Amino acid sequence: MIKNKNVLITGGLGFIGSFFSKLLIENEYNLIIIDKKDPKTHTQKKILKKSIFFKSDISSENEILKIYKYLKINNIKINYLINNAAIDSIPKFSKKNSHLPNKEDWNKELDVGLTGSYLLIKYFGEDMKKRKKGKIVNIGSDLSVIAPNQDIYSDFDNFLKPVSYSVIKHGLLGMTKYFASLYAKENIQVNMLSPGPVYNKQNKKFQKKLISLIPAKKMANKEDLSQTLLFLLNDKNNYLTGQNIIIDGGRTII
Ligand SMILES: NC(=O)c1ccc[n+]([C@@H]2O[C@H](COP(=O)([O-])OP(=O)(O)OC[C@H]3O[C@@H](n4cnc5c(N)ncnc54)[C@H](O)[C@@H]3O)[C@@H](O)[C@H]2O)c1
Repeated sequence: MIKNKNVLITGGLGFIGSFFSKLLIENEYNLIIIDKKDPKTHTQKKILKKSIFFKSDISSENEILKIYKYLKINNIKINYLINNAAIDSIPKFSKKNSHLPNKEDWNKELDVGLTGSYLLIKYFGEDMKKRKKGKIVNIGSDLSVIAPNQDIYSDFDNFLKPVSYSVIKHGLLGMTKYFASLYAKENIQVNMLSPGPVYNKQNKKFQKKLISLIPAKKMANKEDLSQTLLFLLNDKNNYLTGQNIIIDGGRTII
């Protein structure tokens, strides 16, 4: 293991998470992944081979605590934390689409996107504080600063981008600023990387509607996020903190 290059990522087996995981391995970070997904079902075996993987639910404090203790006993210090896991409803054609989320879904989504991110900072951020060094990157969304344009979902029978997603991403921005301020004098930088919609084989008509809202006239490719993530984790970045870097082709500036 390369010293002081341990990065913990949540949701590291998801669509963007596995791209980040691969990127971090290529850039010689030691990777620690927490994901609730069964690793046997994951196609990128190289990521799993080169990382420490915990199949866990980040909304459970007990599970986070177990991981925290395991890493401590094994003297693995987390130098960088990426809060990436979230539950995002994908628009689908279904008569079952609900207009507004029921309480169970609302709670589940907030439990992962907000409580889970908070718990990880509570344990690993506090450890960084003791060492007076660390970086935290929360993964946001363009929906951390704007409301969803529900018109783009009009073809998906009664689908609405859930209010919970907006609350999570706006809340995560609040959490980013809170901890950036709290930890600033401890030499810990806390920032948010907020992608706009990323190409992922979405329905073409839906893509067209989205693109019409974006000045760059295209959605993001995963690769468009790489340099910002690496910059935010770079040890030479010691003064940028509490910021929301929005990578959205200009979607939120018009
Ligand atoms: N895909 C996009 O276009 C897009 C755009 C803007 C922001 N984002 C944000 O990027 C991040 C990653 O999104 P994605 O598209 O890769 O989503 P995804 O659903 O593909 O990945 C999320 C990962 O988190 C894991 N996860 C969910 N709940 C968990 C829990 N309780 N404990 C542990 N792991 C859990 C899932 O198993 C999955 O592997 C999210 O924060 C999302 O809001 C995505």
